[in-house]
Amino acid sequence: GAAVEADISGLKPGEKMTVEWRGKPVWIVRRTPEQIAELPKIDAQLADPNSDRKAYPTPDYAKNTNRSIKPEYFVAVGICSHLGCSPSDKFVAGPQPSLPDDWHGGFLCPCHGSTFDLAGRVFKNKPAPDNLEVPPHMYLSDTKILIG
Ligand code: FES
Repeated sequence: GAAVEADISGLKPGEKMTVEWRGKPVWIVRRTPEQIAELPKIDAQLADPNSDRKAYPTPDYAKNTNRSIKPEYFVAVGICSHLGCSPSDKFVAGPQPSLPDDWHGGFLCPCHGSTFDLAGRVFKNKPAPDNLEVPPHMYLSDTKILIG
């Protein structure tokens, strides 16, 4: 499929934009410093914190806690690894009904309640078997990402 270029120059910290790639929504989230700082703290609650599972292989350049090339920008396919619904943004931190107690924000799948952190890593004991897919991508410049 054709690669897609995303212009991230207008994306502010804490915001998400979506581009379409191969008929799928691809999210680009600009995480705040606080959100980035939370990521390493919740490894024990995640099913696959280091993205070792192979169902949706994570590119080597994103096999880190942030699951990204640059810590600030997270790029992922916005489709749940369970049965293909599109998770909703839950960027507000703090306990919420039916979410993990020390939820620091991320994504919630409305279909069967899978929860993902802000690196798309799925929480334990959720129906989704895997983290959100990180598509192949690269930076063309500081404000342009090529996806695909
Ligand atoms: Fe997302 Fe089932 S499709 S939890």
